Amino acid sequence: MTLRKDAFFEKMDALGKAVSFDHVRLKTGYSEVMPDDVSLHTRLSRNIPLRSPIVSAAMDTVTEYRLAIEIAKWGGIGFIHRNLPPEEQAFQVAQVKLHLNGRIDRPRTVKTTDTIERVLAYIREKKFAFDTFPVLDGDEKLAGMLTKTDFEFCTDPSLVVSEVMSRELVTARCETTIDEAYNLMRRSKKKVLPLIDDNGRLCGMYVWQDVLRIKTGSGLPHNVDKNGNLRVGAAIGVGDKALERVELLARKKIDAVCIDTAHGDSRSVHETLREIKRHYPDLDVVVGNVSEGASARRLVDAGADAIKIGQGPGSICTTRVIAGIGCPQVTAIYQCEKAIRGSGVPLIADGGIRHSGDIPIAIGAGADSVMLGNLLAGTKEAPGEITTYRGMRYKSYRGMGSIGALQSNLSNDRYGQKEPQPKDRIVPEGVEGMVPYKDEIREVLIQLLGGLRKGMGYVGAATIKELKEKADFCSPVDMQESHPHDVIITKEPPNYRITPKEEN
Ligand code: IMP
Repeated sequence: MTLRKDAFFEKMDALGKAVSFDHVRLKTGYSEVMPDDVSLHTRLSRNIPLRSPIVSAAMDTVTEYRLAIEIAKWGGIGFIHRNLPPEEQAFQVAQVKLHLNGRIDRPRTVKTTDTIERVLAYIREKKFAFDTFPVLDGDEKLAGMLTKTDFEFCTDPSLVVSEVMSRELVTARCETTIDEAYNLMRRSKKKVLPLIDDNGRLCGMYVWQDVLRIKTGSGLPHNVDKNGNLRVGAAIGVGDKALERVELLARKKIDAVCIDTAHGDSRSVHETLREIKRHYPDLDVVVGNVSEGASARRLVDAGADAIKIGQGPGSICTTRVIAGIGCPQVTAIYQCEKAIRGSGVPLIADGGIRHSGDIPIAIGAGADSVMLGNLLAGTKEAPGEITTYRGMRYKSYRGMGSIGALQSNLSNDRYGQKEPQPKDRIVPEGVEGMVPYKDEIREVLIQLLGGLRKGMGYVGAATIKELKEKADFCSPVDMQESHPHDVIITKEPPNYRITPKEEN
């Protein structure tokens, strides 16, 4: 399939040039698309949908569970970093998964033979904030439900549960998704939906209040799995240690893992990918990073479910100057997309995004989502303390290949080092620094997604897929015209920051 942008990139290639975000803009086109009406739905990987194309970087100054929860609430997904012991990383994943009580896998139950007095004491003792319990009989089968109404109408607490409970139940099978539960509960007007297996044994429960909140509640496009729990990913390395992590993460129902390395097209990554797919065929594996079409193709052939593009564009990255490698990011995205076009494997553009306008450019070039580090590191939800420097508030932000991050000894294989190195032997590929404190992540995401919507409106693309298909590029010789010029900015807008580079 030939796309409009092909001619632009072919010309660039003929000139021996590769471009990055600052070198290109999208051409505008006839549009019937209003920014507010566009759909931002896309895919992270073969089987994991996103409701907005924002992915947070697996970095120890960016993504732990607090930030991953917020990103997923806004439709994207966060990747918990791997500078954490495996158990701690799995714990962080569980925190995201448990944040919304979509489906309760193991509801607290009571027995038909318990007295109401005993159940009330149990609620007090455990300090439960709820008063709805599935009731199990002597064979552990679901016999009824004990609800708030049953408690209210029970005048004699010495009665046993079977005399008080409600027996007219609506139940559903164990595999019921949150969408099916929502429809069934609406139709039946039941506030609780117990799930049972073929033998009548309880295997889960949906509670209307939670289902409603997830489906419609806050107006945010929650990115949830089929059980109504927020989606989350986690970074892993290569080899046996990676497989150990995957085992723990899979137990917590991780949505996707990312083999997170600086050179994804290398033997250890290919081998690890194959091993994970052999043991966990249903788990989506994101693989990265690469920046050449042939590398992306090889990873698709090896079974990757998504590929992460970017070798050197990151704001804290020194790889290009230390190792002398790397293709400018927009060309890298395009070349990878072209090489795997039609394969159904999504691409994540990772690194180098500085303004909201870089997002439609990354997607226009061929990405399905973007991974952000710098733009999220300064938010309240990112790990780390706020520091004050010359009266301004900052949060620390460092490369995972910086000396500080590599010294933690947990992610040295990201940069091709077999064993942890003493400090004086480390060859870092990243820097340590700080970024301005930005308050709540929602304010950042509103601007980023708003800018993307506007870009789509200008191009005339109603969906992310259309943006990828309709995008065409031009290459301004000089970017000065594109930025504010000939004016002293006295009031910084929320979506445009004067960085030292732009001040020059
Ligand atoms: P940013 O959004 O431009 O800050 O880029 C973030 C991306 O930089 C991450 O998702 C990683 O792919 C990449 N990255 C993180 N740490 C390092 C490093 O130390 N060296 C090179 N690249 C890095």
